[in-house]
This record gives sequence, structure tokens and C-alpha cells, in this order.
Amino acid sequence: MSVLVTGAAGFVGFHVTRALLARGERVLGVDRLDDPALSAARLARLEKLEGFGFSRADLSVPGALEKAAAESEIERVVHLAGRAGLRGADGPSLVRDNVLAQAQVLAFCRERGVTHLMHASSSAVYGGPGAAPAPVSAYGATKRRAEILARAAVEAGGPPTTSLRYFTLYGPWSRPDTAAWLFTEAILAGRPVRLHGHGRMRRSFTFAADAAAATLTALDHPPPDAHGIRYAVADVRHPVTAGLEDFVTALEMLLGRRALRERVPAVRGEFVTDAPEEGGQGWPRPVPSHDAPTGIQDGLARFVAWYLDSGRAIAGGLTSPAAD
Ligand SMILES: NC(=O)c1ccc[n+]([C@@H]2O[C@H](COP(=O)([O-])OP(=O)(O)OC[C@H]3O[C@@H](n4cnc5c(N)ncnc54)[C@H](O)[C@@H]3O)[C@@H](O)[C@H]2O)c1
Repeated sequence: MSVLVTGAAGFVGFHVTRALLARGERVLGVDRLDDPALSAARLARLEKLEGFGFSRADLSVPGALEKAAAESEIERVVHLAGRAGLRGADGPSLVRDNVLAQAQVLAFCRERGVTHLMHASSSAVYGGPGAAPAPVSAYGATKRRAEILARAAVEAGGPPTTSLRYFTLYGPWSRPDTAAWLFTEAILAGRPVRLHGHGRMRRSFTFAADAAAATLTALDHPPPDAHGIRYAVADVRHPVTAGLEDFVTALEMLLGRRALRERVPAVRGEFVTDAPEEGGQGWPRPVPSHDAPTGIQDGLARFVAWYLDSGRAIAGGLTSPAAD
């Protein structure tokens, strides 16, 4: 019996797959391999590990997942493939990869009778500030739509399902469009660091390995029956927010260079503070990762070490030993 991890060659998928393999699970990874350099490097790393199999597929294509998993007995599914981030992707590609692909995964899970499906949602579903959280970005809207489809599939007799709302993740093996990567690159190049929300933003910066641990905890606890429905939403985030300025200061210390700060308005759809510390109305409780979640000092130290050792070389298309 295997766990199917979609998006296994992505940032989150890599960490979740590695954590599953480390505890002896068998994993079938499926991914379209969008980033030629980083996906290939993450995949090469996973393929050295016991219990991992891989199939390349585009989940938005009808029948592609069924074909990719035809030879495997799948017990549980962690669906992490998708278009990540508030910036960049256009509407049609967001819908294809976050909504159409979701529908294909839901159909697959129902067909195969899996015991628990989890899929990656995002803090972007909370959108802007206000009493009733609702997405204001196209990205957040597709993530919310994926949640609604997931719940509807449970209502229609699908397997127990959990929507995991990941907050701002960072760490080794991250995407080049994430804050830690962009800030590190800018500081090293002497370019200004763009601080959205005029630098007043606070974020639940969440170390990717902690998010992976929380994902496994959630996987092991399918939602209980609530009025005949087994569906749950959970936040995956560091319990305490940190300021964007603190994030940059930590990077300055680690890199031994001053950052040039450029304070710009917030991107629409991003909170100035992305999570109330104690939770709040309409906010699910976070899934615990472990007793002492990684703080930005330790987490960024591990990111910077990886970035300098291999991350920037991989992204630049150079081969590298790819350390942790
Ligand atoms: N990284 C974060 O901070 C964060 C925060 C909130 C939510 N999320 C969500 O978590 C999930 C993973 O994010 P990530 O940071 O690992 O992104 P990523 O881009 O590193 O990984 C996503 C992977 O999905 C694959 N993919 C995309 N569309 C596909 C398709 N149609 N078929 C097959 N594979 C496809 C890509 O090739 C890529 O390897 C996404 O759904 C994202 O929206 C991430």
C-alpha cells in the first residue's frame, strides 16, 4: 500500500515525501516537473531513497492520474501539485492546475476508495482584512474553489478529506519566487529588498520541515464523522507571527551584509498580519507540528546554508551535490 503524493518534486511535496519515506512508508510521486532545474534536483534526491516510485503526469489531463497510478495500490493521497503563490500565474493556468486538476484527483480518490485524501489549500483563502475572510486574489479563489469541490466530493460519497491551509513556507529546497530566496538573492547582489505592506507585514513564517511534520500528523488523523460528513479544514502554520523586517534582519546577520530596503504597498490578497496568534473567528486551529516549531533564526540559518551550498547553483542550472 502506498501514499500517493502529487507535486512530489515541488517544494512542499519534496519535504512531505521525504518525511513519509523516513518513517518507512511507500510513496508514489506524481508531478509534471514544471521547474526543469529544481524539480529534477529534488526528484533525483528522492529517487535515491528506499520506497519511492515516480511517474510524470499532468493531473489536469483526464485519465492521466489513473494511468500514472495504474500499477500501484494507493491507500492515501496527499495532493500538493498546483500553481503556488500570489504572483505570476494567469487565471486560466491557475484554474487548470488548482481546480481542474483537483476535480481529477477527487474522481480518482473516489474511484480507488482511498482512506484519506488531503490537499494543499492556502492562507490566501482568507484574503484581505475584514470580518468574513474571503479570497481576494485569483490564486486564493482557486484554492477556495478546490476546498468547496473537496467538501462536495465527500458529500457525494467520496473518502474522508482534509483541506490543509499552508501559510508562508520557507526552508531548504524552496521555490526561487519565495521571500527568503528573493531577499537573499537581493542582499547578496546589493539590490533593494522589496518589502510589501511597507514592511509592516507580519507573517506566520513556517519552516517547511515543520509543515511536513504537521502534514503527516493530519494524514494520520482523518476527520471524524460530523453529521455524516468526514471533511475538515486545518491551518498549517507557525503559531507565532514574525515581522517582515525581522525576517530581513535575520538574513542580514546570516549573510553578513546590510539590505537596501524598498518599502512598497501590499500585494492585494495578502494580509498585513496573516494570522491571529490565538486563532480567531473563522480560523481553524493549526495542526501541531511538534512542541518547539522552528523559529526564523534557526530556519533561515538552514535555508541560507542550503542556498549558498547548492540552492543557487541548482537554480542556475549547474550541477551540485545538493546538500540538505
Ligand atoms: N510554498 C508555500 O508557501 C505554500 C503556501 C500555501 C499553499 N501552498 C500550496 O502547496 C502546494 C505546493 O506548493 P509548493 O510551494 O511546493 O509549489 P511548487 O511549485 O514548488 O510545487 C508544485 C508542484 O506541482 C507540480 N504541478 C503543478 N501543476 C501540475 C499538474 N497540473 N500536474 C502535475 N503536476 C503539477 C509542479 O511541477 C511542481 O513540482 C501548492 O498547491 C501551493 O498552492 C504552498
